[in-house]
Order: sequence, then C-alpha cells, then structure tokens
Amino acid sequence: MKKKVTKAIFPVAGLGTRFLPATKSVPKEIMTLVDRPLIQYAIDEARAAGIKEFIFVTSRGKSALEDYFDHAPELEASLRKKGKTELLEALKATNMESGAIAYVRQNRALGLGHAVWCARRLLSNEPFAVILPDDVIAAEKPCLQQMVEAHAETGGNMVAAMEVPADKTSAYGVLDIKEDMGTVVSVKGMVEKPAAGQAPSNLAVIGRYILTPDIMSNLNKIKSGANGEVQLTDAIAQEIAASDNVYGYRFKGERYDCGSKAGFLQATVAFGLARDDLRAEFSAYLADMMSARNAAQ
Ligand code: UTP
Repeated sequence: MKKKVTKAIFPVAGLGTRFLPATKSVPKEIMTLVDRPLIQYAIDEARAAGIKEFIFVTSRGKSALEDYFDHAPELEASLRKKGKTELLEALKATNMESGAIAYVRQNRALGLGHAVWCARRLLSNEPFAVILPDDVIAAEKPCLQQMVEAHAETGGNMVAAMEVPADKTSAYGVLDIKEDMGTVVSVKGMVEKPAAGQAPSNLAVIGRYILTPDIMSNLNKIKSGANGEVQLTDAIAQEIAASDNVYGYRFKGERYDCGSKAGFLQATVAFGLARDDLRAEFSAYLADMMSARNAAQ
C-alpha cells in the first residue's frame, strides 16, 4: 500500500527582496491577503489535504511567523468577554496542536532546494509535501488535496503544473512531457528557468510538490545550479533518470504569484471580490474607478 502524505514542508526562509522595504521587518508570508496572512492560506490548504505535521524552514527575522501560530490568551479572553464569537472562531484556525508544528533554520538563503534539505532530519522514509506560501491557489477543491488524491494512484514525485504563455516560461521550472494523460503528465525532463526559446513545453511548475525521500538523497549531493542556488528542480529531475517516477499535475484552480507585486495585487482583487461580506462595496468601487479612468483618457 502507498504511504499517506502527512507531513508538509513550508520553505519560508527567502529574503523576499521583491517586497522591500516591507520585508525588511515583515516576513513575506505574514503579508495580508484581505484579512489573513499568506501562510494561513497555505496551512488551510495543507490541512484539507490531510497534512498532520507542519515543518517550517525559517530564517532570521521571521519570528512574527512563529508567533502567529501561538495561542493569544489575552486577546482570546477579551474577545470572549465581549461575546465576539466569530472573531474567536477565526482565531481558532491559527492555532496548532502542540507538537504539530516544527521550525528549522536555514542560516543562509541558498535556494529552495537547500531550504527543503534543511528539513531532512524531520522526515522519515515517507513521501512529503512542499508548499510555497507565496503561490496562493483559489480552487474549489484545494490544490494539494487534488494532488494527494492523484498521488494515491501514481505514487512517485508529483509537481503542480500550469500552462503559461511562451514568453513567460523563463520565469519557471518547465516540464519536458513524456506522455500527456490529460490531468496527469509523465515527465522526461525538467529545466529551471530556460533561456528564451529553449523551453521544452509551456507547462510550468508552481509551488506545490509531493516528493519521495530520494529527493533528499539527491539534495545531499547537489552543490548549486541556476543563479548559484540549490534548485529543487535539479533534485527532482535526477529522479527522472534514476526512477522514471516524476509526474506533472494540471490542477484545477487559479494560481496567484503573491511573491510579486502585480500577482499580490491581482490576488487581493480576486479574493476581495470572492468574499460575500466585501463583494458589493468593493465591486462598486472598482467599477466607479474604472469608469472614472476611462472618462479621463
Ligand atoms: P523566491 O524565489 O520567491 O525567493 O522563493 P524569495 O527570497 O522568497 O523572494 P525574492 O525573489 O527575493 O523577492 C520561493 C520560496 O522559496 C523560499 C521562499 O521563502 C519562498 O517561499 N526560499 C527561497 C527559502 O526558503 N530559502 C531560500 O534560500 C530561497
């Protein structure tokens, strides 16, 4: 029987330079989409997929992230006294069972592959998920849950994938497709940030992975790849040659790149409009703003 995926790694040790100066003192993952920090969306998605253990790879200056998951007794008592049950409910989602969450440090930002490798001692011989909280995915069924269900059939290594325009492939890891089975594709190669015109397809990898323990062994050996960083893509690509068990998964949903300013703004609009309590006021404002702009042009 295939082993269940119950552990997830959240690499949150990046410098977040695209959001400077905000990220000088606020971790990117604590930045707020409507009224929840990015990390909350990632945790909720992991929980829906059956994840029980949450491993954060952090770095200097990320203590706000650790505090976020603690109880806040004074705040909770004050809300209780005022009868603010809805807010108390919202706070509940931020609490973690004792021992369910672990933090390891990446002491230098040497890349995503290196960040994942930092968690190696917290895993045993089992598949594990990796979630990048700055990729926020709006989906009816949460993306990782879709992947866990597909992975129960395929096993092996699975990466979330989406079609991107040809002129955007150089910003992603790109899949070289062996067999396209529709939602799932088997993969014969992966290239991190291919040069213009060199991408093997327009199927790009985004920040959700289900990986085998072999990936950790590969990361043990990798020095550095594109941009001088240890690339997770390289460790996964090695499994294609070694075990031929790498799959791309075309998830259903809309992905927002909240690691970039434009992506964050788009997510803010989309998530704002999706909220029953905000939609009427917010969409009226957007419509007014657009007509005022059009009139001015
Ligand atoms: P990014 O490529 O978005 O890098 O990392 P970044 O440092 O967060 O942001 P910019 O580019 O400087 O603005 C993708 C994910 O990998 C993590 C990040 O925290 C983010 O979740 N990461 C990246 C690490 O944990 N460690 C690293 O050394 C690099």
